[in-house]
Amino acid sequence: MKVAVLGAAGGIGQALSLLLKTQLPAGSELALYDIAPVTPGVAKDLSHIPTAVAIDGFGKDDLHKALEGADIVLIPAGVPRKPGMDRADLFNVNAGVVKHLAEQIADVCPTAAVCIITNPVNTTVAIAAEVFKAKGCYNKSKLFGVTTLDVIRAETFIAEAKGLNPADVNINVIGGHSGVTILPLISQLGLDFTAEEIEAMTVRIQNAGTEVVEAKAGGGSATLSMGQAAARFCLSLVKAMNGENVVECAYVDGGSDHAEFFAQPLRLGTNGVEEVLGYGQISAFEKDALEGMLDTLKGDIAKGVEFVKS
Ligand code: APR
Repeated sequence: MKVAVLGAAGGIGQALSLLLKTQLPAGSELALYDIAPVTPGVAKDLSHIPTAVAIDGFGKDDLHKALEGADIVLIPAGVPRKPGMDRADLFNVNAGVVKHLAEQIADVCPTAAVCIITNPVNTTVAIAAEVFKAKGCYNKSKLFGVTTLDVIRAETFIAEAKGLNPADVNINVIGGHSGVTILPLISQLGLDFTAEEIEAMTVRIQNAGTEVVEAKAGGGSATLSMGQAAARFCLSLVKAMNGENVVECAYVDGGSDHAEFFAQPLRLGTNGVEEVLGYGQISAFEKDALEGMLDTLKGDIAKGVEFVKS
């Protein structure tokens, strides 16, 4: 299995690359690419960690070498959120980065599974889909917006609130990956939350990115937790592509009447998404929240389609 990380020298990229170097199965190959000159050095640094994962770093002009033969491509390339910006403000820079990288993926490794981390994910996934459609290589089972950070935040905050081990909290988070489009299905956990507590917890999970941006005081947005979330998703995908059945939530095309792209639990397998599992019973509060997010989510998706078409 070859995994390429595009944007590997950044805050998310380095954390993610470290986790993959130490956790990918023996015999895997890791290719780090970034426009930053430090990238071969990041790969050299990680290469001293004694695992049976081959690692190589590629500078600015060697994107195609990094992508050659890749089975999975992870994209955290772009600019992070600063205080006062919301994810939509990142749009212009990051949309162009994702469009460019998707075009190169289509040319070099068109059958790879592509996992997008670059924000705004609600929109950048739609951009990649449009590029792949234009290039004639779109496979909706292999394009993912990584929403695992919302899942791990929900696991952490709910475990803290209820004195549980986070490993025992398995929650579905549906919708998108920004603000009100993030909907943790807390009612499904059967825990003794009051309606007010559920509402407050939902809002905390939706705004958790801002907690980090403000705490970093100008130093960027979530990198280490996002690196962990992306590594978890990638490792699940590797297991699935090696024949194990794995369930994760991710933002994908299809399987929902709500919007063209929608995050929900998926059964992953050798070909990416094997089955959209659906999100089951939801409470009245969650139904309202779902209804309330749809215009935003659809608008975010339309923006991506428009960006590529224009
Ligand atoms: N190709 C490859 N790498 C790029 C490109 C490009 N066209 N443009 C930027 N990069 C690299 C930068 O050189 C940098 O190393 O992407 C990396 C981004 O790293 P950081 O600035 O540290 O940002 P980070 O916090 O990792 O966030 C990256 O992920 O969650 C999102 O909102 C976040 O969109 C942002 C992205």
